[in-house]
Order: sequence, then C-alpha cells, then structure tokens
Amino acid sequence: MINFKILTIFPDLFPGPLAASVTGSALEKNLWSCEAINIRNYAKDKRGTVDDTPYGGGAGMVLKADVIADAIDDALSFDKIRTYKKLPKIIYLSPRGKVFTQKIARELAKEEGIILLCGRYEGVDQRVLNEYEIEEISIGDYVLSGGEIAAYVVIDAVLRNVEGVLGADESLHEESFGSANSEEYQNLLEYPHYTKPQEWRGQKVPEVLTQGHHKKIADWRKEQAIAITKKNRPDLLKS
Ligand SMILES: C[S@@+](CC[C@H](N)C(=O)[O-])C[C@H]1O[C@@H](n2cnc3c(N)ncnc32)[C@H](O)[C@@H]1O
Repeated sequence: MINFKILTIFPDLFPGPLAASVTGSALEKNLWSCEAINIRNYAKDKRGTVDDTPYGGGAGMVLKADVIADAIDDALSFDKIRTYKKLPKIIYLSPRGKVFTQKIARELAKEEGIILLCGRYEGVDQRVLNEYEIEEISIGDYVLSGGEIAAYVVIDAVLRNVEGVLGADESLHEESFGSANSEEYQNLLEYPHYTKPQEWRGQKVPEVLTQGHHKKIADWRKEQAIAITKKNRPDLLKS
C-alpha cells in the first residue's frame, strides 16, 4: 500500500483521472490511497491568502513559506500515527527539477508514503524547499500552469511499478524504457503492436508475428525496438 498526499489549491482535482482504468481498480483494491490537502486551509487570514508578491519585483505571485510549511507539518503528523518505517518523501513538482524517468518511478514505487507539493503562480518560496530538503521533480522541459497535472503523471507512472497494480507482469516486462526485471529492454522504446484483422487498408501484419515461432518473434521485436529507439530517441542508446 502506497499513500500519496497531494498539497494543492485545487483538491477537487484528485483522484481525477487516476480513478479510471488500472490505477482506478488498484485504488478500489486499496493498493494505494490518495489524500488531497487544500493549501488554503492553512492560510493565516480569513480571505484564504496563500501567495504574495515576490521580493525583488517581477511578475506573478509566490506561494508563502509559512502556509506551505503548516500544510506539510500536518501531512507529516498524519503519518507519524501510522506504522511507516521512515517519514514520507516530499517532492515539489517543478520545471527546474530533476527530469522524471522510469528509473525514478521504479525507485518511488518502493516508498510507503509520498507527499507531492503542487505549485501555482511563480512557484513556492525557496525557504520552505530548503527547510524540508524537498526534492524537485520535473515531468519535462516545458512549463505547465500548475503541479497537479504533473502529480497525475508521477502517481500513474509510479503505480504501474507497484506490485499487483498491473494485471499481468508481462505488461511491464517489455514496456518502453524496460522494467526492473528486464535488463534487455532497459534503454529501449517498445516494438510495434498489431491486432486483428490481419490486413487493414492494404497494410498486412508482419508475417513473422503470424507464424507462432517464439524465438523469431522475440528477435524481430528486439530489432524493431532498437530501430525505433535509434530513430526517435538516439540519446537512450548512447546511455
Ligand atoms: C507557471 S509554473 C511556475 C514556473 C516557474 N516560474 C519557472 O519558470 O520555473 C507553476 C507551477 O506549475 C508546476 N509545473 C510547471 N511546469 C512543470 C513541469 N515541467 N514539471 C513539473 N511541474 C511543473 C510547478 O509546480 C510550478 O510551481
């Protein structure tokens, strides 16, 4: 069981799309849980102010350190009454963070609890990130309007690596970027898939896939995976 606490000013967005499909069934089976914590509940005034203007000037607003710290402390105190072996990891979703990868997803899947801090506006006062030694994770080199969509991405990718979430182990086995137990596919994108009918708009399914020769199919898939990786992500082959 892995628990996600999401600190956000839009708590109604959770579980959102995570309640559908594989992550949704896993939620019903209690393989994971999520709790969206409204940052506004920790505002110091009646108006629910969570942000203020940046020191040094410039556009936009900054989420206040004292408000975020109280939200984090509350999220941590919930956990103290549980039987976690260690305190949950705190991650700030941020475009300047370390880029999220399948490797990070696999590592995070081993955690019992993760606190995800979703920024808005210009982001969060740096002092709160320093104070709690918060790790910053980016889902890619572009800027989103808030951390919530990034949190969906992280939670979904992490959950696929939690035991029991995917129906069959094979679903993960030869996926793009490989799985924990498939060294062979570690840095490769996935090969192409086909289903019935055998011919569609003049395109035939590659013959090798229709002959039931397992070794030949495995070799063909590996060749295709290498070719696709070379074409779309040559950087993966280098690493
Ligand atoms: C408009 S962005 C702030 C961008 C920030 N001023 C900058 O230039 O780095 C608001 C929030 O969206 C989230 N966000 C934006 N892009 C992201 C990305 N690529 N990965 C993860 N979170 C992101 C972060 O939580 C961020 O605090």
